[in-house]
Amino acid sequence: LTRQLLAYSRKQVLSPRLWSLNDIVREMESLLRRLIGEAVTVETDLGAYVGHVRADRGQVEQILMNLVVNARDAMPGGGRLSVATANVEADAAFCAAHPGMSPGSYVLMSVKDSGTGMSAEVRSKLFEPFFTTKEVGKGTGLGLAVVYGIVHQSGGGIDVDSAPGKGAVFNIYLPRAESSQEESEGVLRPEKDSQPVGGESILLVEDEDSVRRFTAQALESQGYRVLAFPSGREALAALDDPSVRVHLAISDIVMPDMGGKELAERIRSLRPRLPMLFISGYADQPEGYDPLKGESLLQKPFGLSELTKRVRRILRVGA
Ligand SMILES: Nc1ncnc2c1ncn2[C@@H]1O[C@H](COP(=O)(O)OP(=O)(O)OP(=O)(O)O)[C@@H](O)[C@H]1O
Ligand SMILES: [Mg+2]
Repeated sequence: LTRQLLAYSRKQVLSPRLWSLNDIVREMESLLRRLIGEAVTVETDLGAYVGHVRADRGQVEQILMNLVVNARDAMPGGGRLSVATANVEADAAFCAAHPGMSPGSYVLMSVKDSGTGMSAEVRSKLFEPFFTTKEVGKGTGLGLAVVYGIVHQSGGGIDVDSAPGKGAVFNIYLPRAESSQEESEGVLRPEKDSQPVGGESILLVEDEDSVRRFTAQALESQGYRVLAFPSGREALAALDDPSVRVHLAISDIVMPDMGGKELAERIRSLRPRLPMLFISGYADQPEGYDPLKGESLLQKPFGLSELTKRVRRILRVGA
């Protein structure tokens, strides 16, 4: 929820760079498969020569993640999900039907499910913040509001095709960026040499179930072993056993019983050299984390690539 709210209220794009849309989808695929569970068949159909987008990568990941989670929720008894990409040329007629878009070249990311579908009434309210048909405690109604915000801020557009019992297709159009040689090389190189090192074990402490699950799955998809705990107390109990090997501890800062700061102190008394990465849900820099003690900070909301890049760097060179 924090991630969604921050993304929703954020006005400027954070760090727009050139990304290959297909690469983003490809790299998220295994995470999405795990998110969606075994009852749903996942297919991807990535077009050849699909262009680049100039975007904040975390935001593109967030669009895809929100659409896929919605699709999963619409298929409680299983079904089929497909994610497709393509290049699209938008002409005047197309733009007339897609407010905010102007004629030109776009890339399309399309998410299709075979779920319950929706009525015209639901469809008309879909993108309103806090509109949800899910029961209390299940949905906040921010997923699509965030998607809408990101897409429109990027100069793109969305369309939806759905009817009750007929599944749903969400088409996201993002402006296609011309990839000059040096720019795309600059983008692709860090990606290439940042292949998962793998094998390291990471202790993860986060009280919020969904954030813990997302973070653990993200790290596992990169080849790390993850020991995840909902509280500092349980994490400390695990570390008490010296045969438990851990290379990095990641912890939320604000948690009900024991906060991240206190946890870090107590972890240090057990494992003095263990690097510590705090993840913080607040827009402001929390006081008192100390790089000299091997502590660093990652601000929520973060995307898969930011998280794994940071983890790799810490494991390589320390906090
Ligand atoms: N693929 C889909 N199939 C059927 N209905 C959908 C689909 N995607 C969205 N909806 C409908 O649109 C509503 C709003 O979606 P949105 O993602 O904004 O919120 P939510 O999923 O209810 O909550 P949140 O995403 O904040 O957890 C959903 O409650 C659902 O009724
Ligand atoms: Mg949703």
